[in-house]
Amino acid sequence: MTTDTVAFDVVDGIAWVRFNRPEKRNCMSPTLNRRMMEVLDELEFRDDVGVLVLSGEGTAWSAGMDLKEYFRETEAKGLGATRQAQRESYGWWRRLRWYQKPTIAMVNGWCFGGGYGPLYSCDLAIAAEEAKFGLSEINWGILPGGGATKVVVDLIPMRDAMYHAMTGEAIDGKKAAEWRLVNEAVPLAQLKDRVTEIAKVLLEKNPVALKATKDAVRRVKEMTYDNAEDYLVRAQEAANSYDNDGRKEGIRQFIDEKSYKPGLGAYKRG
Ligand code: ACO
Repeated sequence: MTTDTVAFDVVDGIAWVRFNRPEKRNCMSPTLNRRMMEVLDELEFRDDVGVLVLSGEGTAWSAGMDLKEYFRETEAKGLGATRQAQRESYGWWRRLRWYQKPTIAMVNGWCFGGGYGPLYSCDLAIAAEEAKFGLSEINWGILPGGGATKVVVDLIPMRDAMYHAMTGEAIDGKKAAEWRLVNEAVPLAQLKDRVTEIAKVLLEKNPVALKATKDAVRRVKEMTYDNAEDYLVRAQEAANSYDNDGRKEGIRQFIDEKSYKPGLGAYKRG
């Protein structure tokens, strides 16, 4: 199904969502941001969606914020319009950060500035070696806002983050993987196969445990050890209220049935 600025289809448990303004290198306009929130809403609790992949049509993943529609035209309408546009973009990135389903950024091409927001929101990120990443804000005269500075400081070492933000030099997918901005980079021709392979691994896992795990990884980062220890006990107990049988079945298949080894793969879900 194609809907203007965002395209998506669902195949074998995977929702393939795509920025769909290839002629504008998938830069994010207010229209795209509003549409993306609607699409995320629509897909989040569908039973036929187990994993969401975010990629871009054409040569770009996303060339960041739309300098014309998001900045110039919005600013011309005044502060209210600016704050509204910020809420809409930050809003869907936040929704994606805490999305019910596991998410993978499949970075097929250009990824600039504001694109780092949704990049960070996705739980995993796999890039084409040919993709290009850049904090280009400095090249047109602003600081990397919309969370982009926080993204690089969270993900990559300080010296690399500083160099990246101050020079505005683009790096390729291989370098992005070396810096840990993404999990790994593969040749563009293999990108979809590799992402599908990872998505299939996720589809085999207990979905309640996956949601608890991805939230825990993001939450504990800013906690003391004691707070994290406590949070994790409570998060597991909360997860048990949604699915108290899965983990018991996982133990049963290993200990009693001896049909799988948790060290080597997932238990078979009913
Ligand atoms: N905002 C608005 N329009 C854009 C953007 C953008 N971020 N990126 C591309 N476009 C438009 C171009 O203006 C052009 O429009 P036109 O056909 O009406 O002239 C069209 O998309 C195609 O762009 P080209 O520059 O011709 O594409 P090319 O493949 O040669 O280059 C590249 C791609 C390198 C991504 C280039 O478009 C670019 O530098 N874009 C801006 C990247 C950027 O700095 N984004 C902002 C980051 S900062 C932030 O997000 C807060």
